[in-house]
Amino acid sequence: MASFKILLLPGDGIGPEITREARRVIDWLGAKGIATFEVEEDLVGGSAYDAHGEAISEEAMKKAHAADAVLLACVGGPKWDDVPYEKRPEAGLLRLRKDLELFANLRPAICYPALADASSLKRDVIEGLDILIVRELTGGVYFGEPKEIIDLGNGQERGIDTQVYETYEIERIASVAFELARTRQNKVTSMEKRNVMKSGVLWNRVVTATHKAQYADVALEHMLADAGGMQLVRWPKQFDVIVTDNLFGDMLSDVASMLTGSLGMLPSASLGAEDPATGRRKAMYEPVHGSAPDIAGKGIANPIAMIASLGMALRYSFGLGEAADLVDKAIAAVLDKGLRTKDIMQAGRSEVNTAQMGSAIIQALDEIAG
Ligand code: IPM
Ligand code: MN
Repeated sequence: MASFKILLLPGDGIGPEITREARRVIDWLGAKGIATFEVEEDLVGGSAYDAHGEAISEEAMKKAHAADAVLLACVGGPKWDDVPYEKRPEAGLLRLRKDLELFANLRPAICYPALADASSLKRDVIEGLDILIVRELTGGVYFGEPKEIIDLGNGQERGIDTQVYETYEIERIASVAFELARTRQNKVTSMEKRNVMKSGVLWNRVVTATHKAQYADVALEHMLADAGGMQLVRWPKQFDVIVTDNLFGDMLSDVASMLTGSLGMLPSASLGAEDPATGRRKAMYEPVHGSAPDIAGKGIANPIAMIASLGMALRYSFGLGEAADLVDKAIAAVLDKGLRTKDIMQAGRSEVNTAQMGSAIIQALDEIAG
């Protein structure tokens, strides 16, 4: 039987609560003989800072490098507002992305039929929605140098961030988007701000050239990122795959996720380049949502994005597409049954807590797997 190493990083806030439910699904898959999972756990974010004075320890980084997949819940919270900038919880997450070279962030926005009325948009706008945002994750303004605050000596300071993209970075993220589009509706929309940014001009040029050279069979359109944000809210179903840079991808994926009813529903995958020798990619899976410090420890958080992130790991890292389908179906089934955590609660449905949602998903897995 295939064996996979998973590193669980529960992180902060609601992280440990939702990780516990994902762990139950891993154990269920193991017990069913679908694969063997070697699971390790470590700290990241504020919890790592409290334990080691760093947002992630060298030890945890080593485990991440060795894992077939990292499953990270979420980091951050007001408790760590005043820690030094390099040690803030988010630094652990950014280090994982950068050191593992996870340049491709896949953020699907799928509207579960049962939740079509939970969106702030009208049902016909989002019913059946299935788009995929491919966000560049290791470049752009997140990592560009210089990145600093300079004292100008006249009572003024200057804050600087630098947006940098090189050809190869744009080429490889565009290729990921085109490849994925071929498995979907065969359409890519590239978003940048070429009207004000040089990096946007280059982005546009390189995506166009990559398309012409290797992916002419895929439909490609270009959209300015601000117009793209507007179109996402106006008529999101016009999109299939959206490819964009790190910062625009951060913002646009939050917008896209809210179309689907709740941030608590959406998983993501962050992938590295394929190793030509093994055919494997380094990978980390995480919910799009944050650590929700306001409800942490109450046992009411929605574990679905975390469990769906495990589902993406099954699909993209372990080659267990059928098991991934099973997880997705189990999630849809509990929603169809009317079970809702607080964040997606609607009149006439049954409100459940984190553990009850986990149990319902396990039960649905049992029912579907027979
Ligand atoms: C995300 C988050 C992170 C980001 C933060 C926590 C650094 O918002 O994954 O979207 O900005 O990338
Ligand atoms: Mn974000």
